[in-house]
Amino acid sequence: MKLIEGKKIAEEILSEMTGEVNKIRSSGERVPHLAAILVGNDGASETYVNGKVKACERVGFHSTLIRLPETLSEKELLEEVGKLNRDERIDGFIVQLPLPGHISQQNIIEAISPLKDVDGFHPANLGRMVLDMPTYLPATPYGILQLLERYEIETNGRHCVVVGRSHIVGSPISILMARNAYPGNCTVTLAHSKTENLREITSAADILIVALGKANFITSDMVKEGAVVIDVGITRLPSALSKNGYKLFGDVKFDEVAPKCSYITPVPGGVGPMTIVSLMKNTLKSYFSGISKNRA
Ligand code: GUN
Repeated sequence: MKLIEGKKIAEEILSEMTGEVNKIRSSGERVPHLAAILVGNDGASETYVNGKVKACERVGFHSTLIRLPETLSEKELLEEVGKLNRDERIDGFIVQLPLPGHISQQNIIEAISPLKDVDGFHPANLGRMVLDMPTYLPATPYGILQLLERYEIETNGRHCVVVGRSHIVGSPISILMARNAYPGNCTVTLAHSKTENLREITSAADILIVALGKANFITSDMVKEGAVVIDVGITRLPSALSKNGYKLFGDVKFDEVAPKCSYITPVPGGVGPMTIVSLMKNTLKSYFSGISKNRA
């Protein structure tokens, strides 16, 4: 069994990017600029956004964090999005999800200029992804592709089973793993909460990608000997043993599944760190010429 060390790969890629940004700075050009809008005070969202700001500092990007109150109206948030769309100093921006219940996430995502949508969530960018056109790939699926590539994992002709059909992970990664590319060319099965005989299906996977958000859901009897297992889940559960009072768990019961795998991602330190790297890569792509010239 080989551990897919996302944290280590993320560090390597961020170091490479730091070199690129240093070159930009020493040539006297402005550096790439990522902005993030954070509405309200949700603890997990704060942690994620802080991680993104820190990554900007690490690679030398300029970053702007816009904190807005929970009570903000949808119209006011749309105005903020409009300002960032028009601001020529900003290469890309994200609106951290989830948003408060009175604001339509879809309306906000659709208001972001597809040229600055470095999360890759805009319908125009997801459509471009489906059609194999240059686009910003959604961060987590993009991170998974980079891990498969860095570990030179064979995907051609393999059976890839994706568990979970979220718009952010399950649905896009199922499309990406089937496209005519490397990583890709898989025969893909997309399983979800209504799937019957789930164990039979996951046990047939050469590559199993799990993005359900249910701690320890995948047990060893659901995994084929020699499979590649990518665990996207990250659930905080209370733990008296840890200093901060909680422990992080993936969707895969790591201790019993790992011995059966050819490769497996740990949680934490697997897919998570790659998500931020992907956001940085999309921002750099936007800086250089956006999605109009580059291929995904
Ligand atoms: N909330 C959880 N994951 C993400 C993400 O990748 N982007 C944004 N904007 N919000 C999120």
